[in-house]
Amino acid sequence: MKGSIKQDIKQDLKQDLKQDPRQDPASTSFAGKVVLVTGAAGGIGRAVALAFGRAGASVVVADVSVDGGHATAATIVQHGGKALFVAANVTRAFEVESLVDKTVHHYGRLDCAVNCAGVQEDSLRLADIDEAAFDRIMDVNVKGVWLSMKYQIRQMATSGGGAIVNLSSAFGQVGAPAQSVYAASKHALAGLTKSAALDYARDGIRVNAVCPGAVRTPMLARAVGREPGFEKKLRAAHPMGRFAEPGEVADAVLWLCSGASSFVTGHELAVDGGFTAL
Ligand SMILES: NC(=O)c1ccc[n+]([C@@H]2O[C@H](COP(=O)([O-])OP(=O)(O)OC[C@H]3O[C@@H](n4cnc5c(N)ncnc54)[C@H](O)[C@@H]3O)[C@@H](O)[C@H]2O)c1
Repeated sequence: MKGSIKQDIKQDLKQDLKQDPRQDPASTSFAGKVVLVTGAAGGIGRAVALAFGRAGASVVVADVSVDGGHATAATIVQHGGKALFVAANVTRAFEVESLVDKTVHHYGRLDCAVNCAGVQEDSLRLADIDEAAFDRIMDVNVKGVWLSMKYQIRQMATSGGGAIVNLSSAFGQVGAPAQSVYAASKHALAGLTKSAALDYARDGIRVNAVCPGAVRTPMLARAVGREPGFEKKLRAAHPMGRFAEPGEVADAVLWLCSGASSFVTGHELAVDGGFTAL
């Protein structure tokens, strides 16, 4: 009896393996893959670009910051990886289109894209925020991600699929005191991410978001620098009692781009030390 159950299981396993559409499900290697990262001159984008470089991908580093972008690409190359810097402002359609064109021209395809370019306003209550700040934040954080996905998806659709990860925030899941427009822009990303995931679910293109808590980057340094005592308060709001390192967010991004997450799409992954679990 025992023997026959074992045989059945063995048979099922063989069948499962045959039916599994993934070529290399648990692989964390990105050798041969082409990855585009926006906002990669610093902070989370830089950590993501470096992690992909270490994992063997050809990395296109995009940013408005020319010096920072060149520095990220040079670091990847110095460590034996492949990288190209392309200056691009994600709020301008022709620059985003040309960024994707240059990626394909240089490396032949586009497999994964990570949209990290983002900005944050000064800490002000809603009625004190001016219209120019609203427009700037929505332009970069919402229109920039929409434009980026538009041209990334068009390209991925020509080569059988791909994976996109958008950098949202814990403030894309809960409200943010004195950051209403930033929070609104990140909530908008949830709608863009989930809807894009649905639009392209049958085209082999997966679209997900990561929602970090506070991460030790230049953006966080600017935020805590504006308000005495804010750093301590913010750290205490994270149940793990600390900020994330950019590399911890990069690890989540690489997982969402890898074959190990092949049935995950339209998901917002909290990487927040328990911030939104409170
Ligand atoms: N640091 C955090 O605590 C934190 C938390 C949650 C979410 N995020 C999100 O993660 C992403 C990265 O944040 P970060 O902390 O690394 O920020 P950062 O300010 O350190 O880096 C952002 C990068 O985006 C680039 N950028 C800005 N506008 C651009 C544009 N129009 N076109 C192209 N590039 C542009 C900047 O030059 C910069 O290199 C952002 O979307 C941010 O909202 C950050």
